[in-house]
Amino acid sequence: MRKTSELIWQDAQHQKLFEILDLLKEEAADREVVLRLQAYTEYHFELEEQYMLQLDFPGREEHIRAHHRFRQEIAGLLGSETELDAQFREIIATFLTEWLTRHVFGIDKRLEAFILESSAS
Ligand SMILES: [Fe+2]
Ligand SMILES: [Fe+2]
Repeated sequence: MRKTSELIWQDAQHQKLFEILDLLKEEAADREVVLRLQAYTEYHFELEEQYMLQLDFPGREEHIRAHHRFRQEIAGLLGSETELDAQFREIIATFLTEWLTRHVFGIDKRLEAFILESSAS
C-alpha cells in the first residue's frame, strides 16, 4: 500500500525549477541560467503533458495553455535585446517564481491527484 500522497518525480522537478529560479536572482547569473531554466522547464512540462495525454486528463487543454504562457515568458526573456541586469533579473525571477508557485500548488496538484488515482486503480 502506498503511503506517500505525492508524486516523487513531479515534486523533485518542481524543487529543481525553484532552485534554478533562485540562481537567476544571484549577482553572477547570466543568459546561461535562463537557458538552463528553459531546458529544464521544457523537460518538466513535456513529461507532465505526456502523462496528461496518456491518461486523457480532462483539464489538459487549460493546463497545456498555462505551460505555453510560461514558455513564452522565458522565450521573451531570451529574445529581448536588453542586457539582463541584476534589477531586471530580480523582477523577472520574482514574477516567474510567483507564477510557478501558483501553478505548482494549483493546477499541478489536480494533475498529481489524477495521476495517483490512475496508477492506484
Ligand atoms: Fe509542474
Ligand atoms: Fe504543470
